[in-house]
Amino acid sequence: MLQLDAIEAGYAGLRVLHGLSLEVGMGEIVALVGANGAGKSTTLRAASGLLAPTAGRVLFDGRDLRGVQVHAVVRRGLVHVPEGRALFGPLTVAENLAMGAYHTGERADGVLELFPRLAERLGQRADTMSGGEQQMLAIARALMTRPRLLMLDEPSVGLAPLMVSAVFAALASIRDSGVAILLVEQNATQALALADRAYVIESGVITLSGTDLADDDRVRRAYLGR
Ligand SMILES: Nc1ncnc2c1ncn2[C@@H]1O[C@H](COP(=O)(O)OP(=O)(O)O)[C@@H](O)[C@H]1O
Ligand SMILES: [Mg+2]
Repeated sequence: MLQLDAIEAGYAGLRVLHGLSLEVGMGEIVALVGANGAGKSTTLRAASGLLAPTAGRVLFDGRDLRGVQVHAVVRRGLVHVPEGRALFGPLTVAENLAMGAYHTGERADGVLELFPRLAERLGQRADTMSGGEQQMLAIARALMTRPRLLMLDEPSVGLAPLMVSAVFAALASIRDSGVAILLVEQNATQALALADRAYVIESGVITLSGTDLADDDRVRRAYLGR
């Protein structure tokens, strides 16, 4: 479904991704784990069109996304929930969901069933909610675009353990409903437990990949602290 092929990308004067390749197939949860600064967020930006790769290709459904605007990428079914969530803080939960549904007219019933906490808070300002509730809202808003692939940048950051479990349980339901997920996390333990497959990124390249990375000695030492 999504294929990053030998991507080079970065910022003025700084090359961050050095020939990075990965893929996500239909209906799978793929985790991308790695240390702070390894290039995880940059990878998602390159995939969603926020950042133009200087070399390599991004293919979605086999079509090259070069030059395709972010909103058009979303319409094709690829949505990115960035680090920090990018909610409309002064707007209510219901208004944030409506923004997500702008092009699709999607009804909120499905996401409110998935996140009952949001159903109780439709009239609350987004910026007055807890970190976990805001993360749920960001995911719910992304689902209103009716994606086939949802990319999440560190959804567990700053959340209490129970909230992390609630968010990750929702991700499993989303995958089971047929939406593929690319999950970027520093919290490798839970990400690897949830994912069907995973990649390790180090200094802008993929150094390991597979279905059982939590059992890999190198991954255990470097990312799982055991
Ligand atoms: N907007 C930016 N401008 C310049 N450098 C950036 C920007 N965003 C990230 N970087 C740099 O790119 C590298 C990779 O960052 P990032 O992709 O955010 O890593 P990660 O998400 O794995 O922590 C880091 O050295 C970071 O300082
Ligand atoms: Mg990041």
